[in-house]
Amino acid sequence: MSSSARTSDVLVIGGGIIGLVTAWRAAQRGLATAVVDPEPGGGAAQVAAGMLAAVTELHYGEETLLGLNLASARRYPDFAAELTDLTGHDLGYRRCGTLAVALDADDRAHLRELHALQRRSGLESEWLSGRDCRRLEPMLAPGVRGGLRVDGDHQIDPRRLAAALVAACERTGVVFHREWAERLLVDRERATGVVTRAGAELAVGQVVLAAGSLSGRLAGVPEAVLPPVRPVKGQVLRLTVPPPLAPFLSRTVRAVVRGSHVYLVPRESGELVVGATSEELGWDTTVTAGGVYELLRDAHELVPGLTELPLTETRAGLRPGSPDNAPLLGPTGLEGLLLATGHYRNGVLLTPVTGDVMAHVLTTGELPDEARPFTPKRFSAALTEQPA
Ligand code: GLY
Repeated sequence: MSSSARTSDVLVIGGGIIGLVTAWRAAQRGLATAVVDPEPGGGAAQVAAGMLAAVTELHYGEETLLGLNLASARRYPDFAAELTDLTGHDLGYRRCGTLAVALDADDRAHLRELHALQRRSGLESEWLSGRDCRRLEPMLAPGVRGGLRVDGDHQIDPRRLAAALVAACERTGVVFHREWAERLLVDRERATGVVTRAGAELAVGQVVLAAGSLSGRLAGVPEAVLPPVRPVKGQVLRLTVPPPLAPFLSRTVRAVVRGSHVYLVPRESGELVVGATSEELGWDTTVTAGGVYELLRDAHELVPGLTELPLTETRAGLRPGSPDNAPLLGPTGLEGLLLATGHYRNGVLLTPVTGDVMAHVLTTGELPDEARPFTPKRFSAALTEQPA
């Protein structure tokens, strides 16, 4: 195939949930769209717990990201309903709320600070005593000292979301190239397509690089526009609550124990997801005894009865971390190359808004206002700045 024979208007590199939602929304807008990925629907969504935690995962200095997170959370009900109507897939979208609890005085002080930040940011959360926490969730440890009830932080099952997005893409005419993208093709300072590992040339109008933690590794991408994305390992466990014991927990329960985040996400199916470590170890996805031990130890401190449950799965995935923990969305300094990557801890939450933003920019060339702060050019500008 010659690189002058255009195979689609848009080629999305990466068939994780971010690449899939971009492809689906682009195809809905009438663009001939293809995805290149050996295993569409795979990636970090196969590991993620699926918390939609804009409020409980709020951090100092991330107010701009909060705006995008909230915009996406607001879209979730309609987004999930649209996907289910189109594909018949149940996404496990559950408006269950979240309880963030404290186990000791330090945790309590930390949570009080988070509560104050939430209130200053106009977010809804309610401070509860330890006794009120246990009234809501009787399986909690007697030592729980207090907590924050956030009814607006929900959950979705990311594996179901990924399968539904594959089905939505298929129904909307997206073409899947089930192979690896090997190299970006650049001709006269414009991205024109990719060469696959099997040697095929896919020539396109616009290329969207949405390869999660791998996004910074595609050959052929000029250094100045290569996304500064790094892998951040997360180990996650899955336990099963047998039917007579259900409901074990009625909402997501989370805490910071000895400085590490631990969360327990109960699905209606009886699956209980326990996550997650956060490790800067490059491309390593080994499940370690230490990782499993620490997660179980911390989860056990929150909910002692959990050690009775069957441990059904252990797995590690790679979050696409970016320098400011926020995604990179939209055009790069290389014409024809766009990014949808760097979603770090918020990929599942940011899926609906990412699809809308990317479809808008692919059809108009402009980032919508809500996405302007997330332009990839915020990093390439710093790269090309000359010292005074
Ligand atoms: N947002 C949860 C995590 O990244 O572990």
